[in-house]
Parts: sequence; C-alpha cells; structure tokens
Amino acid sequence: MPLDVIIGAQWGDEGKGRLTDLLAAESDFVARFSGGDNAGHTVAVGAQQFQLHLVPSGIIQPHTICLLGNSMVIHPETLLAEIDHLNKLGVDVSPTRLKLSPAAHIITPAHRTLDRVCDARRGDHKLGTTHRGIGPAYMDKAARSGVRAEDMQDPVAFEKRIRENMQNAAHLLEAVYGEACPDPVETAREYRAHAERLKPYLADAGAILHDALQDGCQVLAEGAQGTLLDIDHGTYPYVTSSNPTTAGALLSLGVGPGHLRRIIGVAKAFQTRVGEGPFPTELIDEVGERLRGTGEHPWDEFGTTTGRPRRCGWLDAVLLRYAVRVNGFTELALTKLDILTGMQPLLLCSAYEVEGEMVKDLPRSCATLAGLTPIYEEQLSWEESIWNAHFWGDLPPEAQAYVHRVETLTGLKVKLISVGPERDQVIRRESLV
Ligand code: GDP
Ligand code: IMO
Ligand code: MG
Repeated sequence: MPLDVIIGAQWGDEGKGRLTDLLAAESDFVARFSGGDNAGHTVAVGAQQFQLHLVPSGIIQPHTICLLGNSMVIHPETLLAEIDHLNKLGVDVSPTRLKLSPAAHIITPAHRTLDRVCDARRGDHKLGTTHRGIGPAYMDKAARSGVRAEDMQDPVAFEKRIRENMQNAAHLLEAVYGEACPDPVETAREYRAHAERLKPYLADAGAILHDALQDGCQVLAEGAQGTLLDIDHGTYPYVTSSNPTTAGALLSLGVGPGHLRRIIGVAKAFQTRVGEGPFPTELIDEVGERLRGTGEHPWDEFGTTTGRPRRCGWLDAVLLRYAVRVNGFTELALTKLDILTGMQPLLLCSAYEVEGEMVKDLPRSCATLAGLTPIYEEQLSWEESIWNAHFWGDLPPEAQAYVHRVETLTGLKVKLISVGPERDQVIRRESLV
C-alpha cells in the first residue's frame, strides 16, 4: 500500500508535471496537494503540449483516478475551462476520473484583485505573485471565513456564501486600497452555475485514498511549487501561501506517514526562479540568458502560468541539501540535463562563504539567504547532444560526472535523469517503483 510523492526541490518548475505523467503510467491514483492555478505543469506527448494548472498531470494516462486535495485552492472557472479543454483534446476528465475534495477552498475574483493590489502596494518589496488570488484565498481559510468546495453541494446556498464573501472583500478593497471589487451579485450568480457543473466532482479525497491504500493500490502525490516556496520552510516572505513539501502532502491528502514509500525530489540541473526573492547563484548575464533560452522552444524558461521570463543560475547544492533535509527525499530526479550541453564553463555551487568562513550547509533557515557568497566548483563540460540518450552508458563521461557530483553533494541517488521533455527522453537508473 505505497504512497510515492513527487516534490519540487527548488523554486518550482523543476519538471514535476512531466515526471508525474511518467510515473502515473505505473500508478492507480494521482493526487495534487498544494496551491492552485499558480502552478503550471507542462507535459509533452508527441506533438501535443498539455498545460495543466489544476488538474493533476496524471490525467493524461487513461487509467488513472485523479484527486485534488484538501489544502488546495480552486478557481472554479479555471478548473472548468481546463476540464473542457482536456475533454476536447480527447482526455476523459469525467467525475469518475477526477475528484475534488470538499475541504478545498474557493478562489473568487475578489481574491485575485486583492492579490494584484496588495502586491503592487508593496512597491520595491513586491513578491511577484502570480496574481491568481492564492494568498488572499488562504488568508480567508486561515481566518475561517473562506468558502469551501463542499458548499457547492447546494448551489443556491453557495451563491449566497460567495456573494457575502465578495461583499466583505469589497469593503476591504474599497476602504483600504481604494480599488473597485468585481460585482459580488453578478459573480455569485456565475459561481452558482459553476457549482452546478462541479458538484458531481465532489468526493472525499482522503477517504478514497485511505481505501485505495488499504486495497494495495499505487498512489502518487504530485507536488506543485517547490520546497523553497514553502510558507514555513522557504525564502519567506518570497514564498507562496501553502506547504509544497512532504509534510504538506500528508496534511492535504489526510494520509499518515506510514504509507510513504518513495519521496522523490525533482531538481533541475540548474536553478530557476520566477518572481522576486533571493537567488544566490543567479546569473544576470548572457550565461543566464543561454540557460533561459529565447522562448522559441516550449521548454525555454518562461512561466507556464504568467509567461514571465524565469531567472536562471547555476545549480545550488547547498539549497538542494536543505531540500533533502526538509522533505526527507529518498531519491532525486534530475531534469533538463540536456540544457547544460555545451556550457563552458560549467559551474555548480557546492558551498557558501559566510563572513570569511566556508559553510556547506545553511547556517540557519533559508529565509533571507543574505550575506552568502556562492563557492563554485567547475565541472567538466560536454559538447555532444544527449537528447537521444536512453541509458546511463549513452551519456558522455562528463555528464555522468556531473550527476555523480550531485549525488555526492546530496548523499542521494539520482534515479531518473531527463534529457528532453518527451516521455522517452529519460534515463532510468533503476526502476522507480
Ligand atoms: P513543473 O511546474 O515542475 O511541472 O515544470 P514546468 O512544466 O513549469 O516546466 C518544465 C518545462 O521543462 C516544461 O516545458 C517541460 O516540458 C520541460 N522539460 C521537462 N524536463 C525536461 C528536460 O529534461 N529537458 C528539456 N529540454 N525540457 C524539459
Ligand atoms: P509550479 O507548480 C514557479 C511563485 C510565484 C511567486 C511566489 C508567490 O509550476 O512549479 P503566489 O501566486 O503563489 O502567491 O506567488 O510563488 N510560484 C511559482 N513559481 N512555479 C510554480 O508552480 C509557482 N507557484 C507559485 O512566481 O514568486
Ligand atoms: Mg511550472
């Protein structure tokens, strides 16, 4: 009765979606557990690019049942649009395949307006949120004034709950921020229609997973965001408002830790970040631009959700070790190794200098990361394309050495290496299941 968890080991966009799609082939259930449509997960299948924001990436494998966990925040219109889009592409997203936890919270247009206005008010200290209303929806949840998915059971009562919630937000927006709120009456009416459509999807995700695990089914939890964006363990305040870490998965899905089997940390072979906040190994030069790409390829480093260029830099093994500690990873998956082909020099941060001393582990929580200077190791680079590598032996010795160095620095085996976005562009060093 195993539960495997996929967790972003950096600041998001590590390739969790593509890995989920891969491992979903061997799973019965796939559950998203954190955040909302701030996430953007791209899965490439042949000529098709699936961009998922709320529906678990496991939906593309036709046999899976997919769940949205308690700790998620749901924008109903986005969820419905995604369901419709996937159905049009021939992916069955009927209520038999997708289950929405009644305890998940609902995002309104007022949350989105608040998100945008609050971040703008921060001026030079803005967080660079996705403006998807994530923070304000979690604020309502913590204040115990949020609207939950379970309220959609009764669409008429739901309309009233949304109207009241929006009217409260309207007071705040107008009195504090001098900003108009989207019309509560009109929005509530639209939300009632959304509830009529989403009602059949409501199902107790925790109970379903409990039974599935008892029956010996294979459950995969799909992380969103990344460890360094965790509200308790990330680079606060430059974080999201949820817990995208292992403990967050258990909390959201209502599953005990005894079920855990593999905790897979997904790390990009370099480092990226979208939005503001500290980034010790950031490259603000042509090397960073080369890592980012120009935008001509779907995998170039531009946000799936907002289209913003992602900041890029060398892999930071100190932060990766921190992510290993916070999550208890049992193994790593390394993505986008192909992007490092031809990088000369090829650097990797293995330690920091802090006040003249070398430190290999964070001297404190990773909140500020101020006053730290990365210490780089130069790695041997390689020129030949690894795009068609399927086996470990297909990799040039320098690429193998890079992977080995990551293993030595983290103390974990890199069990899966991806060298391109397609399903077959992976090297499995041993079976993941
Ligand atoms: P997620 O949010 O963690 O699911 O990651 P995103 O989907 O936002 O970003 C990862 C991007 O890289 C997507 O466009 C993937 O198709 C692409 N990708 C994943 N693995 C690889 C890889 O090994 N090589 C290349 N070139 N692209 C990859
Ligand atoms: P996936 O699942 C990358 C970042 C935002 C911003 C911060 C707070 O695709 O890896 P929020 O809207 O959540 O309040 O924004 O968090 N962020 C992500 N960055 N990938 C994501 O998801 C992200 N989800 C949130 O850019 O810096
Ligand atoms: Mg993403």
